[in-house]
Amino acid sequence: MWNKQTSPFLILAPMEGVTDLVFRQIILKAGRPDIFFTEFTNVSSYASEKGRENALERLKIAPGENPIVAQIWGKNPEHFKETASALEGLGFDGLDINMGCPDKNVNKAGGGAAMIKTPELAVECIKSAKSATSLPVSVKTRLGFTFTDEYQTWLPTLLSQNLAALTVHLRTRKEMSKVPAHFELIPEIINLRDALAPETKLIINGDIKNRQMAEQLKLEYPGVDGFMIGRGVFENPYCFTDYQPTIEDLKNLFLYHLDLFDKESRLPFETLKHFFKVYFHGTPGSAELRNKLMAGKTTTELREILTQNYETMVK
Ligand SMILES: Cc1cc2nc3c(=O)[nH]c(=O)nc-3n(C[C@H](O)[C@H](O)[C@H](O)COP(=O)(O)O)c2cc1C
Repeated sequence: MWNKQTSPFLILAPMEGVTDLVFRQIILKAGRPDIFFTEFTNVSSYASEKGRENALERLKIAPGENPIVAQIWGKNPEHFKETASALEGLGFDGLDINMGCPDKNVNKAGGGAAMIKTPELAVECIKSAKSATSLPVSVKTRLGFTFTDEYQTWLPTLLSQNLAALTVHLRTRKEMSKVPAHFELIPEIINLRDALAPETKLIINGDIKNRQMAEQLKLEYPGVDGFMIGRGVFENPYCFTDYQPTIEDLKNLFLYHLDLFDKESRLPFETLKHFFKVYFHGTPGSAELRNKLMAGKTTTELREILTQNYETMVK
């Protein structure tokens, strides 16, 4: 799957609570990336009797999403094996291991960015996953846990694992998303990849807003193979395309979101409210419309509030 991509290819970043089955279908309608990633799923949850059902729910995919990569996290090599062995049968084209999540609970459990501090265990988890599947295995990580220069030892550790792809979010765990991404380090990261693992696709992530910006970065850094966009979809769900949506397009996309939410969401109604700004922003009445929508308690009420207020408030 990775070798079929033409560079620069674009990827929808995994985002917990955002890029679920419903939201990925919104992006599919607006204009798909070359590759989708799921939110992350915990391997120990999949491996337990209690957690399996929930894990499988998170790993559902819709027709038309392929190629799609399942992202998983954890710290138990046996559980990586068990989860990895199931993913091909669930329709995935690749498996990605999260070694960058800064969440305190995830890190306390030894997963996500905490893996940067336990490189031997990280390697063991990669090996376990690879041993259990014929799917290509990739890793998404950060520059380091505390200091940016940790990348000089951490990335070679990962690049020695013959990964299909490596995504580098250009910040440390400590930096969270509070400082600008370290684009200045891209040339050095390309050199490491070229020297240690020329077959591994290099994907850059952090502050990349849209297709146009990715294409510009490709001109500046031709050695990068792919670009991953996360929060850019909040500013423009059409960010993988060259199309500039009208306010009517965004309204229709919102209505589509409500329909999909009714049919397929596993999340509570309140979570829908995080998305209002995606569809209603940048026009004189959009903030007021969002405020009115906040009062809605069901998707039916949201549709009614929209019908009653849209024309006067947004146009
Ligand atoms: C709400 C939210 C949830 C996220 N969940 C995940 C996740 O499940 N797995 C992961 O690897 N990264 C996760 N991330 C990090 C993003 O994938 C990405 O690395 C980060 O947002 C930087 O890229 P951006 O500047 O394009 O947003 C999350 C980010 C956000 C904002």
